[in-house]
Amino acid sequence: MTTKLSVNVNKIATLRNARGGNVPDLLECVQFLEECGAEGITVHPRPDERHITKKDVYDIAEIISVEFNIEGYPDERYLDIIADIQPAQATLVPDPPHVITSNAGWKLHTENLLHLEKVVHQIKQNSPKTRVSVFIYPEDVTETDLRNLKNTGTDRIELYTGPYAEHYENTEKRIHFLNLYKITALQGKNVGLGINAGHDLNLDNLPDIIRTIPFTEEVSIGQAFIADSLFFGFEETILRYKLALRP
Ligand code: PXP
Repeated sequence: MTTKLSVNVNKIATLRNARGGNVPDLLECVQFLEECGAEGITVHPRPDERHITKKDVYDIAEIISVEFNIEGYPDERYLDIIADIQPAQATLVPDPPHVITSNAGWKLHTENLLHLEKVVHQIKQNSPKTRVSVFIYPEDVTETDLRNLKNTGTDRIELYTGPYAEHYENTEKRIHFLNLYKITALQGKNVGLGINAGHDLNLDNLPDIIRTIPFTEEVSIGQAFIADSLFFGFEETILRYKLALRP
C-alpha cells in the first residue's frame, strides 16, 4: 500500500487573508498542487474564517478532482458544509473554535462516543459516500475503545502526531511515541478502522512513521509542506514528500 499525500492548504489562505484581496489565488494553488501530484486537498474551515472561509470550501469543491478532506469540529455549520459538499472525507476534531491549531484528539469515553455516533450517523445519512475519520491521540486508548469507535460508523482514525514530532530529536522519546502509535494503529486495523496520520509531520519525521505503520492510508500535511514550498516550489516539494512516504 502506498500512503496518500493530502496537502493542507490552510496556510495559503492565511497568506492571502493577511492582505485582503486574492493573492495568492487559492484555487490556482489547488489546481497546481493537483497537477504536481497531490493526491488530496485538506481544509479546516474554522468558524472565525481566519484562513479557509466557507466560500473557499464551496469554490474548491467546484474544481477539485482529487480527494477533498474537510476537517472540523462537528457543529451545525460544519455538518451543513459536509452535507452540501459531500467530500471524500470528513475529519472530526474535538477542538473549540478559537484554538490556534488542533492540539488534542477525541477522548473515547462514553459521552464522546455517543456524540460521535450521532454525528457520524447524520453525516452518513446526508452524504453516504463521505468517509469519516476521527482525530485521536493514542495515549490510554484500548482496542475496546477503538471497537466502540468503529461501532459509531467511523471509517478511519487520524493519529495526532504532534507530540511525536515535538520530541522527534530525542531518540528515547521518539521510540516511545512510535511504539504508542504502532500499537494503536494495529489495534485500529484489527477492528476494521483505516489509519491516517497528521500534525507537525515534515520531511524529517515522516519516514519513521511510515516505516512503523506501513499501512498508513493517508497523511495530511500543511505547515511544513508550505514552508518547504517556499524553498523548493510545489512540484519539488511534492516529490520530496512522496519519496519520504516510500522510505
Ligand atoms: N490533521 C489535523 C486534524 C489538523 O487539524 C491539522 C492542522 O490543520 C493537520 C493535520 C495538519 O497539521 P500541520 O499543518 O502541522 O501539517
